[in-house]
This record gives sequence, structure tokens and C-alpha cells, in this order.
Amino acid sequence: MATAVLGLQWGDEGKGKITHLLARDADMVVRFNGGPNAGHTVIDRGKKFGTHLIPAGAFYSDTESVLAGGTVIDLSVLREEIDVIAAHVGEWPSVFVAENAHLILPYHRLLEELEGSGSRFGTTRRGIGPTYRDKAMHIGVRAGDLLRPDVLRTRLQWRVNLLKRSWPDAEEIQAIEVEGLVNEAMDRAEPILGSIGDAATRIGEALDRGKNVLFEGAQGALLDVDHGTYPYVTSSPTTFAGLGQSIGIPCPDVEHRLGIAKAYTTRVGAGPFPTELCDDTGERLQRAGGEFGVTTGRPRRCGWLDGVALRYAVRLNGATSLALTKLDVLSGIGTVRVCVAYDCDGRTRTSFPLSGDVLECCRPVYEEMDGWDESIDAVTCLEELPSQARAYVERVESIAGIPASIVSTGPAPEQTIVRGL
Ligand code: IMP
Repeated sequence: MATAVLGLQWGDEGKGKITHLLARDADMVVRFNGGPNAGHTVIDRGKKFGTHLIPAGAFYSDTESVLAGGTVIDLSVLREEIDVIAAHVGEWPSVFVAENAHLILPYHRLLEELEGSGSRFGTTRRGIGPTYRDKAMHIGVRAGDLLRPDVLRTRLQWRVNLLKRSWPDAEEIQAIEVEGLVNEAMDRAEPILGSIGDAATRIGEALDRGKNVLFEGAQGALLDVDHGTYPYVTSSPTTFAGLGQSIGIPCPDVEHRLGIAKAYTTRVGAGPFPTELCDDTGERLQRAGGEFGVTTGRPRRCGWLDGVALRYAVRLNGATSLALTKLDVLSGIGTVRVCVAYDCDGRTRTSFPLSGDVLECCRPVYEEMDGWDESIDAVTCLEELPSQARAYVERVESIAGIPASIVSTGPAPEQTIVRGL
């Protein structure tokens, strides 16, 4: 049985909690896109973790974690996360790295700063864009190169020469030493060298043997490089369509495609956001939801649930059911609003525009629903929810066109209503 966990908004939907929950029963957890730009909040055995790269399988002793070919890996981040989790769980987690995954090297972060995409697009400044760009331009360095240090050295020599020619006046670039890069990469990678290899075959065999494989998505559908709100997107595919390409298995048989959506919407970084609330209600959502980036600490922009975007993201992912997270944050907020259409220059549209520029001109058309005042953070079944909260869940289901199989009412694993996938 295979399950994919996919973000349906602009990231930060609470995928960390859901993957951690589902990873408990998984034999293998595969992270299939992005890199340490992601930030998953996980509470394991009462302790809170912010993970960026390592799949949630690392918290469980019988579960293998795999970083697939479509990810980009910062070895320093990976080592730190492995060390922290090893200390927490009391054993070295089983982590396998695809030989074709690309490495984020110190100059990628430097390039992002020099080129200014951090301030222009509000990127996470983790070197994600420059690394994916090097991959597309055939000048990247891959995890498999670590197994052949001479090849690694030659590739880096070539890349650094090119960098120095392109940035003659940048002191930090001119100061880069290839031998230093090689030594640092080999040092960080040393404990995982034996676990770098052909991830596609490994994942394929697990699927063929009927193992319980969980595919862990990062970011959200609206940040997809092809289908998101371009140019305010990340640099990799973030949807189910990108999964097969990343893992190297065409059309993998993934029975459950669980789309994760917050009960409201947030966004970090720049870009259009029709339901954004720049008022007290937005601030209240930010405070009550603890809406500050796990990776960058930046405050997240907050707004009402965007049903137009949600329907689009469900279709884009072929999501089979929904995990609705942070429903508790709406308790006590008063009347709740959901965006069901856009007003675009006087015309009503119910489809999500493919261009960020068009989305910029869309004003939300809201439907209002009664709110609820009761705290719901101890509720563990749908029937115990206040009737207004239940009506809200049902309305979101009807907008999304799929059932909510999970409703989350707080950050802890036990604050979850599970109705089966
Ligand atoms: P990058 O992925 O660092 O290049 O950033 C590109 C855009 O995607 C920026 O707006 C980031 O804030 C956003 N982004 C990237 N990863 C995440 C994530 O995991 N959660 C939310 N936003 C993200």
C-alpha cells in the first residue's frame, strides 16, 4: 500500500504532523521534492522538532527514510538532523540517499544572495533555486559524486572556475577553494556514504513487495514550479505529478493521495494572496496558529480559506481525500468566511488563474458561516465537534469535492480525528 502526503496550499499546511502520524505504520518514508526550504513541525514523544530535510520515518526504528532523486540535499542540514534525531530516539536512523539527488553547496546560498532572489521573491535563502538551476544546466554536483572523490573534485573545479569567471568582482566567490569544498562535503557525508545509491530500484522493490510506503511531499501545490503562482513559486515540482519523475518510477501505484489543507490559508514570501487579511483577524490567526516559519522564522501572511485555490490543488494532485489541519485555530473567531469565487475586474470566475499576475487582480467572493466559541482541542471524533465546526468541515469537503479523512485539532499526535483514508 502506498500513500502520498501532498500540500494543497502555499506550504506550511501541517504536513509534518500528518506524515509523522502516518510514518508510524510505514516501512519506508520517501521525501520526493525540494530541500531544506521545507520546515516540518513534528512532536515526537512529547518533544517538538523542526525538521527540514530528513523524512519523518527517521523517528521510528523499523522505518527506512529515503531522499529521492528529485530532492536537493544540504549535507550540513542532513547531518545535523540525523544527529539530533539519533540522540532523541537512541539509535542511528536508517537513511538512504538517491545517488542522483543534487547537492546544495555553500556557493548556491551565496549566489542566491548575490542575485537578490531572496528579497525579490521572498525565498527561504537556502540555495534551492541556484541548485535546481545548476542541475538543469548540467553543472550540478550529485550525491553519487561523493562515492568518487576524484569525479567530485573535477566537477567542483569546473564549476568553481565558471563561478569565478562569472563573478569577477565578488570577493566571496573569488575566495572559494575547491579543496575546502571537497573536504567539507566528504566530512559531512562520511557516515552516510554507505547509504548512497539507486533509490529508484529500492523504492520500486518496496512497492512490488507490497510494503507500506509513504511519500512525503514538501511545500504546496500553489508553489509548484510549473503549475503554481509563477514566478512566486519554488524551483521544483511539488505535486503528485512530480512524484514519479523524482523517484524514477513511472506512474507509481499510490492508492491514497492525501491532500493537506489548513482550515484557513497562509503564505510566506512574496506573491498574490487573494484572501489575505491585513487586519486584526489576520493577526489573530497568526497568533493563535503560531504562524511563523519553521525554516526562516518569518511571520506568515494569514487569510481565510481559499476554496477556488483548494479545488484547483485537489485536481492538480488527483487528491483522494483531505486532511484538514488547525481547525482549532478558528475557535472563537466569530463568523467564518470561505472564498468560493473571485471577482476579476467585475467578472466572476470560479477557476484558478495560472498566472500570478492575473491572480493579483482577483478579489475574493466570500460565503459566511457561523463560527463556534468552544475549544475543540480535546475532540477526537467528528460527532463531538460543535455543530458549526462540523458544518464548516462539510462545506470544505463539498468545495474540495473529496472527503476529509483526517481533521487536526491541535499540534499533538493525539489531537487528531481520523476517519480512515
Ligand atoms: P525557495 O523554495 O527557497 O526558492 O522559495 C521560493 C518560495 O517558496 C518563497 O516564497 C518561499 O517562502 C516558498 N517556500 C519554499 N518552501 C516553503 C515551505 O516549505 N513552506 C512555505 N513556503 C515555502
